[in-house]
Amino acid sequence: MDPKALETEAQSAIAGAENLTELDEARVRYLGRKSELAQALRAVRDRETGMTLNALRDRLEGQLAQRRAELERAELDQRLAGDEVDVTWPGDQFPVGHLHPITQTRRQIEDAFLGLGYEIRDDREVETTELNFDKLAFDEWHPARSPRATFFFDEDHVLRTETSPSQIHALLEREPPIYMVSIGRVYRRDDIDATHYPIFLQFEGLAVDRHITLADLKGTLLYVMRAIFGPERRVRFRTHYFPFTEPSIEPDVSCGICGGAGCRTCRYSGWLEMGGAGMVDPRVFENVGVDPEAWSGFAFGCGIERVAQLHYDFPDIRPLWEGDLRVLTQF
Ligand code: DAH
Repeated sequence: MDPKALETEAQSAIAGAENLTELDEARVRYLGRKSELAQALRAVRDRETGMTLNALRDRLEGQLAQRRAELERAELDQRLAGDEVDVTWPGDQFPVGHLHPITQTRRQIEDAFLGLGYEIRDDREVETTELNFDKLAFDEWHPARSPRATFFFDEDHVLRTETSPSQIHALLEREPPIYMVSIGRVYRRDDIDATHYPIFLQFEGLAVDRHITLADLKGTLLYVMRAIFGPERRVRFRTHYFPFTEPSIEPDVSCGICGGAGCRTCRYSGWLEMGGAGMVDPRVFENVGVDPEAWSGFAFGCGIERVAQLHYDFPDIRPLWEGDLRVLTQF
């Protein structure tokens, strides 16, 4: 073996390796266990040859390490160049959702009552006729008891037609004092139009305590309407009839669009109807075993779509149920 020729050949193989794989092939070939040099080293008999070959091996290993470092750096540079992030490139746009306008309204109503110290209830939507009608003192002949008005499962079960049965649940569960508001879906066999849908939401309030009067009801509704619609609002009551309240009233809130002067929204009356209310009828107290001589209370109920409609001023409630994003994204 000619050490000089071997060195020249090995050096050019090392320097010529284009990547780490080629470099490793060169290493195996010139320095590996079966390489010419390794075999020559094993066959060494004299000191001088041994020193020459050892020195050759050291030089080749040094060159190999140097070339490896060069190639590794080059590969890293190349990878980094490929990974480079262009910070000016526009990012992916993910659509951001928001709460449904009915949910927003519902939370606003909840906030107003939580501020008054009321408890928020969420009762069942499938209700017995006993709680939906009987205990609320609906007369036998009341039109809401008809299958033409109400969705019946069987004789004794309906989809609740109002959130008023929550009053009964609350009164059956525990002794007064009770201050509660119940919010949820109710069902009626109404034809669909711009202001009617067979499913809608109501909030229902009940306050039962000692010496509660109509003035408390009026003050509470005024507070809540102002919390929801703004501090300028006024309320007024008109007499009405509900089976479970006596006296019964319908609260109106002054129109916020015209300030009470009269406009299309309030049908030129200056007032907007806001549902029903009244003093809890003694018959209802008797139906749940509460002494009407010891306790008195008021109740009120109102549609949430109606509140949302006045709040956001949309002309038609149907898209609220149809999930039409072209409409919903506007609120
Ligand atoms: N439940 C009535 C309705 O759906 C609204 C109502 C009226 C609720 C008077 C009440 C009330 O609590 O006292 O039309």
